[in-house]
Amino acid sequence: MNQKQRSKRFDLLSKRDINRETYVEPWPEAGLIVADSPYDPQPSLTLSAAGEVVEMDGVARADFDALDRFIVSRALDLAVVEEAMALPSENYARMLADINAPRAEIARLVAGCSPAKLTDIIRHLNVLEMMMGLSKMRIRRQPANQAHVTNWREHPALLAADAAEAALRGFAEVETTVRVARFAPFNALAILVGTQTGRGGVLTQCSVEEALGLRLAMKGLTSYAETLSVYGTEMTFADGDDTPWSKAFLASAYASRGVKIRFTSGTGSEALMGRAEQKSMLYLEARCLLVVKGAGSQGVQNGSISCIALPEALPGGVRAVLAENLLAAMLGLEVAAGNDALASHSDIRKTAKLMLQFIPGADFIFSGYSAIPKRDNLFGGGNFDAEDFDDYNVLQRDMQIDGGVQPISEDEALNIRRKAARAIQAVYRQLDLPAITDEEVDAATVAHSSDDMPARDIVPDLEAADAFMAGERDFVAVIRALQEGGFGDVADNILEMGRQRIAADYLQPAAIFDADFKVRSAINDPNDYAGPGSGYRPAGPRWAAMQNIPQAKSPEGFIERHTGPPLSRLVEIGPASKGGRNEVALALGPAFGKALTSTIGGLSHEDVLEAILTGIAGEGMIARILRVYHSSDCAAIGYVGARLSGSGIGIGLQSRGTAVIHQKDLAPLNNLELFPQSPSLTLSTYEAIGRNAARYALGLATVPVAVKIDNGARLRLIVQTALLHRRETDEVDPDKPPQELRFDWEPA
Ligand code: 5AD
Ligand code: CA
Repeated sequence: MNQKQRSKRFDLLSKRDINRETYVEPWPEAGLIVADSPYDPQPSLTLSAAGEVVEMDGVARADFDALDRFIVSRALDLAVVEEAMALPSENYARMLADINAPRAEIARLVAGCSPAKLTDIIRHLNVLEMMMGLSKMRIRRQPANQAHVTNWREHPALLAADAAEAALRGFAEVETTVRVARFAPFNALAILVGTQTGRGGVLTQCSVEEALGLRLAMKGLTSYAETLSVYGTEMTFADGDDTPWSKAFLASAYASRGVKIRFTSGTGSEALMGRAEQKSMLYLEARCLLVVKGAGSQGVQNGSISCIALPEALPGGVRAVLAENLLAAMLGLEVAAGNDALASHSDIRKTAKLMLQFIPGADFIFSGYSAIPKRDNLFGGGNFDAEDFDDYNVLQRDMQIDGGVQPISEDEALNIRRKAARAIQAVYRQLDLPAITDEEVDAATVAHSSDDMPARDIVPDLEAADAFMAGERDFVAVIRALQEGGFGDVADNILEMGRQRIAADYLQPAAIFDADFKVRSAINDPNDYAGPGSGYRPAGPRWAAMQNIPQAKSPEGFIERHTGPPLSRLVEIGPASKGGRNEVALALGPAFGKALTSTIGGLSHEDVLEAILTGIAGEGMIARILRVYHSSDCAAIGYVGARLSGSGIGIGLQSRGTAVIHQKDLAPLNNLELFPQSPSLTLSTYEAIGRNAARYALGLATVPVAVKIDNGARLRLIVQTALLHRRETDEVDPDKPPQELRFDWEPA
């Protein structure tokens, strides 16, 4: 029987996270192709003598669908189309990657590009070149970040606390959504109160069906809307009872009430809805983006968004996501660059994908960083979650890249969470909504997830929510409630949000609020990246805040832990000479038992000495202790020991615990046994080292000491290693010969 063999390695690989995903081969007929479908049109555009578009991308005007008509009448700058379409796509690609090509010139020409032309430009770019392009074409100078705050219990105190923490962590926008639609007003209220407790000026939205979304906005409970979805084929629009014109009308309804709007599109939606018309995802996205621009939206949330797993199942999917972000930026749109929905089971893959936006920077690097645990994310699970906060902060610190957030301390988190939970408690009390108890406030303060919250009776909450929506009360009632409930500063922030809505400066492209409600947008803070030394880079207080992770310790502290009262029982008796044949010399580093008194693994020098001496004595040999002054190097210390040892066998021991057994006839860097992994050495290892040294001296057969292998030790302890070695090196006296030591109880 020829049984099929299984490779143990392939078996293991099959269980890795990366193999929990679905991968599929391209199928253009089904729209399962991210770019360059054989059915994608070639770029073309013809103007009539009267200046009207008579043909675009191979389709005659008479055959235009709704998107084509909208694009030619609303999105294209007809004054530049002929120049723009005539310029070879490769030239655009080269300009995008070339720091010397000005962004304004690219933007001017891109305004005249048809969807197929936009797609064609991407064909010439690899991801690195696209990242160069994005760093230049992003419209706001300083990147920012958006957070998701939801929880499956839809608990108002937890929502408020998480929103406050997200605001303090630096998110410029926070959005929530609902499990039960009727909760919408209260979820919107909770994150409004929460964010404005954390930091005034964070924009908020509640992602719900549009009519309800608009009413929440008009009650002043939300300040932005980015749920206006567009699609790249007419039939996908039709399936949603929409047209580009209806979306434009809705956008105007929001904007006319001072609500910042951003559309949503992204690769994969048309294929997912079975309406891809054999076109590539990227070509359809180019059409979407022109619709977004034509509708007058200041920006777009794109990067596949909720469809991300579909392009990721296909070759080139992650590249295409970057390409769509870049196309949006080229069109002058604010980009909230995806990275929101769960995109991979694999931490390696999800992080690699993130880098394509993180490194060049996007107006919002995430269109929803899940600032809550994955299980509480009602947007379908985040690609990065609250569990990843520290990872993300470290990535910022590692690369000196501003990812739009900053680390906070545990105390800061607890304080702001408690304040936000108490503020929403006060609002509920003042507005006669079902009470939030002190117990709920306490739980929300320390909670990580819904699981940490007491259950709430949701029936009265839902009834109150219905009544709130049906009634006249709006954010002004909330301001009064906060004022009367003792949260005047939070009331002030929400009042200011209302005032800003009338000023409406935050409707400008890529606008967010800085500290003190100062608008920062593509108008007053435009991206000026033009190569090295230009553009935004984190510096000064911002870079200091990004570095300031609570985990970072003062380097001095690392040494202090290894100092103590010196080993006074060890006395120096003068320059060392060579001893008798029955001895093993134990040579110590210059700081041993003096400036430093314990090893990197925390063993006291006294105990280590005792263990080695016990080992040597156990084999009937005598130990002689020396101190080396001219070097802190382990090999050099061991070499001296061997040279001065009457038996020719010496042990070298550094203060941090690294040890070597040396024989006098071996070259200095050769040795009998080396123990470089000092953190893994135990007292019984040191005793075995002493024993083995003695056995070598006696000429007995000797099995090398087994040491536990710990591959993480260097990773964990390299800072301590460097600092302890430096401390030992400080004690070096190059001119002082090795000294002989004795214990004070030994005869002089
Ligand atoms: N294209 C269009 N709209 C999308 N959304 C998510 N992904 C896409 C996409 N690829 C929309 C959803 C919802 C919101 C979360 O974003 O329809 O309104
Ligand atoms: Ca979002």
